[in-house]
Parts: sequence; structure tokens; C-alpha cells
Amino acid sequence: MAITLAFDVYGTLIDTNGVIVALQKHAGNKAPEFSRAWREKQLEYSFRRGLMQNYESFAVCTGNALDYTSSYFKVPLTRADKEELLGTYGILPAFDDAKEGLARARESGFRMFAFSNGSEDAVQTLLEHAGIRDYFMGVVSVDAMKSFKPNPGVYSHFLRKAGASGADAWLVSSNPFDVIGAVSAGMRAAWVRRSPDALFDPWGIEPTLTVNSLADLAEQIGRKT
Ligand code: 2OP
Repeated sequence: MAITLAFDVYGTLIDTNGVIVALQKHAGNKAPEFSRAWREKQLEYSFRRGLMQNYESFAVCTGNALDYTSSYFKVPLTRADKEELLGTYGILPAFDDAKEGLARARESGFRMFAFSNGSEDAVQTLLEHAGIRDYFMGVVSVDAMKSFKPNPGVYSHFLRKAGASGADAWLVSSNPFDVIGAVSAGMRAAWVRRSPDALFDPWGIEPTLTVNSLADLAEQIGRKT
């Protein structure tokens, strides 16, 4: 059975810190901290909406999180500023290792999908803008499930859409909560740990594999299968 790879998008293929340059004119030297807090709040809102079964799209979580973060940092943003920042969020860049890693995975014959909290339209736009859309057989969004990662139902949804089973499907993600969610739902998972400072949650649920760069992914998954 061919191996299926489910690539997480935000934070794994696409660099959410790509918004820092646009934030600098509003938040000055606090832009990196603002970006990190915005991202954390966005994820927190997705977790809470999933638990509350009060679904709104990931774009709504992102917009609400921007409002919260601008208040928290006392950085006033006009409606036009917010639209500009959210526009930038819609065309974030890929990480430097993304193209090489995806090309090697394709050469290895893996079935490749993007799998994201983002809506299908938003993810298609991001991947096309970053020049990496053509590596994928398709985009699977949690949107159809009206819930978010790490709800086990969204990983089952991925497997159904991709025509794969947990034993032959790998999530590829830099987000530890996503890796733990996938393993807990019966998939295999590769954690992309680009920085030695990145920490994994000490829950006793470990990644099947850890790589320092997407460029190493295909070879290392090949060794495990
Ligand atoms: C994604 O699903 C978790 O933000 C991450 O793309």
C-alpha cells in the first residue's frame, strides 16, 4: 500500500511569522512577540470553538485573535489595517525547506495531501501563492467537519477523503498538538522540529519520527516503512 502524507499547512509548510514585516509598522520591535501571541490566540480560539461545538471558520478565529492581540499589546488598528494584515495572512510565504522536501517526497512516490484547519479556498490560495500547490493530490480541510484539530474526527475525515488507513498515513507537522492528535487518532506522525528550542508536550504520546527539516522527511519515512 502506498504511503499517504498529510502535510499540515500553517506553521509547517507556511511560515506564520511571515506577517512580522507587515506588523512592524504597527507594533515596532514588538512585532515578533505580537505575531507569536496572535498565532497562539488563533489556535486557542480554534480549540475552544471545537470544544464548545460553536464552529466558525479558521479565518474568523484568526480575525478575532488579531482583535484580541491588538488590544493586549495596546496597538490600535483601523479596520483598513486589520484588512491589510489579514490579507497578508492569506498570502504568507513557504518555509525555505518546503519545496525541496516536497520535491523529494514526490520523487519517493508518496501520495501527498495538504491537511489544514484553514478552509479549502484559503489553503488553495496560500499554496498557489507560495508556488507549492502542484505537489499535492488534494487539499483536505477540517471545515467539512465543522471542528478543528485535534478533534479525532478531523483525522478520520482526512483518512476517508484521502482513501487511506491510519497504519499507512503520516501526518507531517511542526505543531506538537497536531502530532499528538494524529497519533492519538491512530495515524503515524512526523514532527518537523526546525529549531532545537522547539519543545514537545510531555504527554507520553511521542512522534513516530522527528526531522529537523522537511528536506530529510522522505528519506527518514522511507527508513521507517
Ligand atoms: C493547520 O491546520 C494547525 O494551523 C495548523 O494548518
